[in-house]
Amino acid sequence: MREQLASIISEATAAAPAIVTRPDFEAFKARLSGPNGSLTSAMKLMASVPKEEKPAAGRLLNEAKAAIEKLLETTLARVEHAEAAARLGPPEDPTLPPPDDQEGLAHPLTKVREEIASVFHKLGFTVAEGPEIESEWFCFDALNTPATHPARDMQDTFFLPAQTRCAGTSKHGSEAYVLRSHTSSVQIRTMLARKPPIRIIAPGRCFRRDTVDATHSANFHQVEGLWVDKGVTLRDLKSVLDFFVREMFGNSAEIRLRPSFFPFTEPSFEMDLRSPDLGRLSNRWLEVMGCGLVNPKVFENVGYDPGEWTGLAFGMGVERIAMLLHGIDDIRHFYANDLRFLRQFA
Ligand code: PHE
Repeated sequence: MREQLASIISEATAAAPAIVTRPDFEAFKARLSGPNGSLTSAMKLMASVPKEEKPAAGRLLNEAKAAIEKLLETTLARVEHAEAAARLGPPEDPTLPPPDDQEGLAHPLTKVREEIASVFHKLGFTVAEGPEIESEWFCFDALNTPATHPARDMQDTFFLPAQTRCAGTSKHGSEAYVLRSHTSSVQIRTMLARKPPIRIIAPGRCFRRDTVDATHSANFHQVEGLWVDKGVTLRDLKSVLDFFVREMFGNSAEIRLRPSFFPFTEPSFEMDLRSPDLGRLSNRWLEVMGCGLVNPKVFENVGYDPGEWTGLAFGMGVERIAMLLHGIDDIRHFYANDLRFLRQFA
């Protein structure tokens, strides 16, 4: 009887994986524990077992019954699972967001960029764009930045390998490509593509060979501004920036323009900002952007008559504005994708 039970169990265990459908399972179960099943006939042998061997034989039989029951149970679970899967049809599109997923939210830099854009929108500025990989002419030469200018140094700007030099136009000769070091190149692209008057902002990504620390990143964002019209003066520059700063930082914020130098503006300034509501930076003059009146040489480079057209331009770092607005002390928070940081801007 011992051998008979062992072979019933091993045959059933071998056959079980092939059982897939409910009728298969019912037939399998009947072969084992039905009225004419193999386990049932083994149980009938008990009658002929001598009395003194009955307890041992009974134990064997119970063990075999338990093993078969367990096997039937797991086989049935598998069959039912397959049936359920068949009823549900093919799996869902795995690229769809799961229904219980949390709603996404805009990155703080995106939000601040949009806030900046909406302030300038009120003054009639629209959004212009340019490429992140830029030729040297758009990034520097057209902006009156000579080949000897330190910004064009290999140490400061990412130059693309020499084999990617572009043929350029006959006007510009063969040029290197760079990852744009500022959004001022969009000034040039816009002036070449349109006729004045122009009033644009150009938000975008910029690249510099900066060693990353709490306030520097090799990859950052700027918003450029350009206004070209007849009779644009320093007074317009000051009022545009004053309006911007009050809209962004509140009415108690003040600005000051400090003389500076950029090859593409003349005169040039650094704009500082001061506000009593900036936490530990309250009431201190903080450098926020470069600005000035468009240098007539730039107008010449894009074929505008400097006797007819005047303009103002400015460029600010989005990270810098976002850090001041939200009291963020380390620029690296923006790029770490730590949800504990990002969720604070929901
Ligand atoms: N492009 C300058 C920079 O990146 C900023 C600037 C823009 C200055 C426009 C003047 C006018 O520092």
